[in-house]
Amino acid sequence: MKAIVCRTHGRPDVLRLEEIDKPIVSDDGLLVRVHASSINPVDFFPLSRVAYTARLLSGGLKPKPKVLGIDFAGTVESVGEGVTDFRPGDEVFGGANGAFAEYVSLPSKKGVVLKPANLTFEQAAAVPVAGVTALQALRDHGRVEKGQKVLINGASGGVGSFAVQIAKALGAEVTAVCSTRNVDTARSHGADRVIDYSREDFIRDDERYDLMIDIAGNRSWSECRRILNRNAIFVAAGASANTVWGGNRTLRHLIGIRLASIRGPQKLALFIAKLNKENMIALQELLQTGKIRPVIDRQYELNQVLDAFTYMGEGHAKGKIVITI
Ligand SMILES: NC(=O)c1ccc[n+]([C@@H]2O[C@H](COP(=O)([O-])OP(=O)(O)OC[C@H]3O[C@@H](n4cnc5c(N)ncnc54)[C@H](OP(=O)(O)O)[C@@H]3O)[C@@H](O)[C@H]2O)c1
Repeated sequence: MKAIVCRTHGRPDVLRLEEIDKPIVSDDGLLVRVHASSINPVDFFPLSRVAYTARLLSGGLKPKPKVLGIDFAGTVESVGEGVTDFRPGDEVFGGANGAFAEYVSLPSKKGVVLKPANLTFEQAAAVPVAGVTALQALRDHGRVEKGQKVLINGASGGVGSFAVQIAKALGAEVTAVCSTRNVDTARSHGADRVIDYSREDFIRDDERYDLMIDIAGNRSWSECRRILNRNAIFVAAGASANTVWGGNRTLRHLIGIRLASIRGPQKLALFIAKLNKENMIALQELLQTGKIRPVIDRQYELNQVLDAFTYMGEGHAKGKIVITI
């Protein structure tokens, strides 16, 4: 099968489209023919020196080639003997390592569910990592409640576009921060108020918020605190304003807010999203009922993955970047 393989570290131009063996299906697993995937900042990680070194050590100094990609939507090709919840022909979506490929395999109990019929494969592939991150940021870490005032900084990218819609679906009053060209989209997702960061500075706002979901990660803790209520929660979901090449800058930002937040009444939550079955079912329901809709900025084919990485690396994707396979 065709797959995007990473054999070393470096810029995305080290990635290769290769012919490799199809993955093996375990007794409790599914083999999915992937029709579409989508790219996330986490897909840059295997290109880092840290990830390369880990592959080197785990492969006995002969680094294991790594197939990139996590999000997928496709059709079940075959199932293991012990699988009763899926059958060949089912249209599914979810997350598994190695999704920039014609086939992906994963245990049926992991983060895979039936694709809602009202979504194309491309739309479904745009959901898993970004959707789960937005859901967990708001529901689990932000513990958002109906009527609460929520500010979403970085409201127009993959995570942000889902965060605005999910916050509305959970009954929050939402203020979205994004650039001029994304103001109308944020409004169309239901944001009650939109702050265009190129014209207005949200930390000078008179409003006080119960929850801030920070996806852009471009402001310090002391700046953000000013606009938070005493019992507010600040969820640091990302640092997209540092771009995926930010590396140490992103880490410095997260350590900085962690240390600065120790004193003071507001709570800080840092987290790494868990792409599991329960979260995928919650997203499936939000999609089926039309409460959230994926936003697709651009589509690339598998042999154009380098262009997809380059575009995402610029840090201004409007919704999701999809890879068709
Ligand atoms: N915690 C986790 O488990 C987890 C999971 C997934 C992602 N993340 C992190 O979350 C972040 C976002 O991921 P993503 O997939 O949404 O990335 P993305 O799609 O590339 O998002 C980029 C967005 O950031 C916005 N942005 C850039 N500079 C900004 C600024 N100064 N103020 C406000 N918005 C700004 C851009 O909007 P404009 O074009 O309008 O500037 C663009 O829409 C990344 O740092 C990623 O690593 C974390």
